Amino acid sequence: MMIKGKARAHANIALIKYWGKRDDELVLPMNSSLSLTLDCFYTETEVIFNDDIEKDYFYLNNNIQDEAATKKVSDFLDLFRNSAGIKSSAMVKSINYVPTAAGLASSASGFAALAAAANVASGLNLDNKDLSIYARQGSGSATRSIYGGLVEWRRGISGKDSYAVPVDDAKWDIGMIVVIVNPKEKLISSREGMKRTVETSPFYTSWVESAEEDLKQIKIAISKRDFEQMGLIAERNSLKMHATMLGAKPPLSYWEPESVLVMQIVRELRKEGIPCYFTMDAGPNVKILCKLSESYKIKERLTQSFHEEKIIITGPGPGVTIL
Ligand code: PMV
Repeated sequence: MMIKGKARAHANIALIKYWGKRDDELVLPMNSSLSLTLDCFYTETEVIFNDDIEKDYFYLNNNIQDEAATKKVSDFLDLFRNSAGIKSSAMVKSINYVPTAAGLASSASGFAALAAAANVASGLNLDNKDLSIYARQGSGSATRSIYGGLVEWRRGISGKDSYAVPVDDAKWDIGMIVVIVNPKEKLISSREGMKRTVETSPFYTSWVESAEEDLKQIKIAISKRDFEQMGLIAERNSLKMHATMLGAKPPLSYWEPESVLVMQIVRELRKEGIPCYFTMDAGPNVKILCKLSESYKIKERLTQSFHEEKIIITGPGPGVTIL
């Protein structure tokens, strides 16, 4: 027996961050979050269940992966194998389409594409809601990559109702500029970083409360297409997430001097009347939320301090596609 499925999923950047789990096993978040799916960054993955192979193989960008990386994929595929009663091993081939030198984390697009491909290969044919529940168990942010545009991940009460819902297709003047400050892999994974913050930061409880309020407010701003409010809420939310890390023991910071430089440039541009807002995740790269129509102007300013190759403009992207 040999059954296969292939799918593409796009990366997303959170405007209201997910930071902290209340259940590590099920990947249940402490707070709901909201993101923008991106056009330029995506992963294509093929899953082939094959009776003739004796173990799982995982190729990423045509390179066979080590045991640790393969185990993550195998454990994730077990969710599908168990539900569908499949006993075969799998061949998984994944390609990350990320502009050169980007070095962006790809767990969101990676696990969303893997989930969508496994969904076809296993014959489970889950709908998007259930697919996001499965993707969540690979990586929290992957929950949101099932949909395009602006997407909310509702924290839910149990494993069965923590999933993503589309909020707005973002087919208006929205763009994002990714500034690559450092393409190297982060030293402290988001998994580790959030765990340390939840366990030791005295600011953590306020973060959860304030993130839920931010989510409420940003949804109002989105419904009114109030870009300025949307950006201000997102920028502050990101700063608050990073503030919780500074309070952790030992303290944690993903910022590099160039990250702060991008923040300064964004603030200057705003003073000049260009609406743009920064956000950062578990790494030093900075993403700038802006109007797509103004992205080239902003890029031009950034090129005074950063190499052109390190500045990537992207628009809103679509949800998962079966290939
Ligand atoms: O999905 P993970 O485990 O890589 O965590 C993502 C955490 C942040 O990127 C910092 C925030 C978010 O909501 O994407």
